Amino acid sequence: MLNVLINVFWFTLPAYVANSIAIDVSGIPVIKNYSTPIDFGKSWRGKRILGDGKTWRGLILGGLAGGLTGMLQSMYGSPWLPQMTASLGIMLGFGALVGDSVASFIKRRMGFGRGHPLVLLDSLDYIFGSYMAVWILVPVNLQYLAVACIISPPMHIIANIVAYMLKLKKKPW
Ligand code: CTP
Ligand code: MG
Repeated sequence: MLNVLINVFWFTLPAYVANSIAIDVSGIPVIKNYSTPIDFGKSWRGKRILGDGKTWRGLILGGLAGGLTGMLQSMYGSPWLPQMTASLGIMLGFGALVGDSVASFIKRRMGFGRGHPLVLLDSLDYIFGSYMAVWILVPVNLQYLAVACIISPPMHIIANIVAYMLKLKKKPW
């Protein structure tokens, strides 16, 4: 049981890192000025395609961070952990952020503005995106996907509280 949790965490780590980096870099002084939206500010049927919360900066830096995470993980090969590589990390990282953008597309079509919380969609979009993308390279274990869907929302909450306690975040959510 614990073994499965650790394996899923290890395999999903590049997606978690990509997702957090895309958000975190938006607070870094020089980097935050590069805020060109992926949809270039364009609308479709009167509403933004994705909105200002989805930037090229987040997509590119987040995706690369996923690849870097996968590369570092590949150096720490262990017989009891799933094999990670830089390419899997890139797919998981970019996939996570594409999934996140698809969710924003859906939110905009539903008429919700940037930042409107839809808890389930917000916490699972990047998991589905990363697993769909990595599927291009390797067969995905559906048990992993199911476990990732279950552990990710509570993990997200715990990570935010820890970041708050470490004074990395101003609010505990
Ligand atoms: N972010 C980014 N580029 C991305 C994803 C995220 O720049 N591809 C940054 C943005 O500053 C964004 C923040 O991370 O505001 C939080 O991400 P998220 O919660 O996904 O976006 P929201 O602002 O809530 O917008 P949406 O309603 O479209 O999800
Ligand atoms: Mg949001």
